[in-house]
Amino acid sequence: MARIHTVADARRIARRRVPPAVFDYIEGGAGEERTLAANREAIEAVGFVPRMGVTAGIPAPDLTTTVLGTPVSMPLLVSPVGFTRMMHPSGDAAGAAAAGAAGTIFTLSSMSGHSMAEVTAAAAGPLWFQLYYLGGRHGAAQLVAQAREAGFSALVVTMDTQIPGNRERDHRYGLSPPLTLDRRTVTQMAPQAATHPWWLLDVVRDRFRLELVNAAGITTDGHAMSAGEALIHWICEPPRWEDFAWLRDEFGGPVVVKGIVTGEDARRAVDAGASAIVVSNHGGRQLDGIAASMPALVEVLDAVGDQVEVLVDGGIRRGADVVRAVALGARAAMVGRPWAYGLAAAGEPGIARVLALLREDIDRTLRLVGAPSVAALDRSYVSTPAW
Ligand SMILES: Cc1cc2nc3c(=O)[nH]c(=O)nc-3n(C[C@H](O)[C@H](O)[C@H](O)COP(=O)(O)O)c2cc1C
Repeated sequence: MARIHTVADARRIARRRVPPAVFDYIEGGAGEERTLAANREAIEAVGFVPRMGVTAGIPAPDLTTTVLGTPVSMPLLVSPVGFTRMMHPSGDAAGAAAAGAAGTIFTLSSMSGHSMAEVTAAAAGPLWFQLYYLGGRHGAAQLVAQAREAGFSALVVTMDTQIPGNRERDHRYGLSPPLTLDRRTVTQMAPQAATHPWWLLDVVRDRFRLELVNAAGITTDGHAMSAGEALIHWICEPPRWEDFAWLRDEFGGPVVVKGIVTGEDARRAVDAGASAIVVSNHGGRQLDGIAASMPALVEVLDAVGDQVEVLVDGGIRRGADVVRAVALGARAAMVGRPWAYGLAAAGEPGIARVLALLREDIDRTLRLVGAPSVAALDRSYVSTPAW
């Protein structure tokens, strides 16, 4: 842990520990990775407008807020990331434990390697469940019922994955999306695995449990669907706005819409009964060429910011970036790759370290801009370019 002082450090260590195919799965964007790069460029273009002579040394700034009524220790949540068990055997269980210990919300991907029961058992705080229609609408109904019964407090419906994006790095390794990972894939990766013995040892010790447990659990007419069938149905039946009345009824709790980048879609989400929106371009992994996360956040806030809570992810790498997003009007920011880097670098302690560094930097940035709390942040603390 002593070697991890920034998210970039966690990324560097992760890159050494896992084989290139796994690292590039985490790292890659779609197509020419323009949206991936644009996320960072847009965040860096948000400047600070500080106030001197107002920061109280003690007490420290108040980092707490609420998201959909749930108190969190800082305005930073954990985004859903699939296939985490191949990054480290502790995967989503470690993510849920580390996020809870940091006082924030963990979002479990539908593409997890641990079951909902395993994740709730490991969790130390509130959990959201991210829904893909594995097994189509029929399978989605089963996943929603399981999430409700397991006590997940919100359902996050990802709208930007009608089909998997064109992840050219994955194609290079013969891992064509939708990525399926099993003993055969690992064997195919044998030359890489051999040069990453610690990773290989972990995978072997974990007995190659790399299957998609949520897909594997779906039944149809009393028979278990194969993971392959569940993935085909996922692509054949993506979620549509007219499904939201049904989804809200089935889940019975708040439904969050993830993957929105325009004001028009944000209004549709609100009309469909969304309780919150996550402005997201999937970390540049879906449609390359769509808006960067920060200008999309501003457009969505202008459209629906007075009606629902708006969160944002894509390119957040420092606490200062979280402060930028909240000052622009986001209720909270979320991170995908940063926690995946922490996990791939060092398991649960790696994630805990990344979250702690982000928290420290939120605290530091609030003091330096002269804001007493997260709640006090507004656009007067930042300058934005003409997006
Ligand atoms: C390796 C990886 C896997 C992901 N898997 C999912 C997923 O299963 N479901 C989902 O809604 N988003 C998924 N995402 C997108 C993240 O939830 C999030 O939107 C994105 O990572 C944010 O950008 P960032 O990585 O720059 O923080 C994934 C992202 C990564 C990097």
